Amino acid sequence: MASTPPEGLRVLYTRQQIAGRVAELGVQIARDLNGEKLTMIGVLKGAAFFLADLARAIEADTTFDFVAVSSYGKAQRSSGAVKLIKDLDQPVEGKNVLVVEDILDTGLTLAYLRKLFLQQHPKTLRIATLLDKPSRRIEKIEADYVGFSIPNLFVVGYGMDYAERYRNLPEICLMPPEHPE
Ligand code: IMP
Ligand code: MG
Repeated sequence: MASTPPEGLRVLYTRQQIAGRVAELGVQIARDLNGEKLTMIGVLKGAAFFLADLARAIEADTTFDFVAVSSYGKAQRSSGAVKLIKDLDQPVEGKNVLVVEDILDTGLTLAYLRKLFLQQHPKTLRIATLLDKPSRRIEKIEADYVGFSIPNLFVVGYGMDYAERYRNLPEICLMPPEHPE
């Protein structure tokens, strides 16, 4: 059953569309692993629901870790600087790492994290992002697995926020462009 989003928001992807796409990504990721173990690294907080659903869609021997980076705060635009707020619990040397992010936007966050993790010499490092906004890219970086590619829109729900709100919406919703920053 579809739920009604809060006033002013419009549903972009329903929970069924998200579940279907996550299942497809899970199959693809498991296939690429070829029976090897996986370490998923979620980027808090936005990727929490995506990681939880994706992990259950990947048939593999899997462990998790989480990092947190400085975010947009209350504004819809990034300041450009990325800062690590929570580091990995375990080093990723020799592991098959899958970085799990909610949105690949300018690419500043994932370019920073990729560089950081590569310093630890993982066996492989791949990136899964629920959403990709290729038109906004500043850093040259692509994800190996993309849920949905979208134009330059601001979205909330399914983990993603506007000033910490709306993360719990089960759908991915569009924020109207006239919304104050
Ligand atoms: P990047 O460093 O510019 O690629 O930004 C990535 C981060 O910005 C994402 O992990 C999100 O937390 C945040 N972000 C980018 N676009 C949106 C959006 O449309 N809604 C909510 N958060 C966003
Ligand atoms: Mg994020």
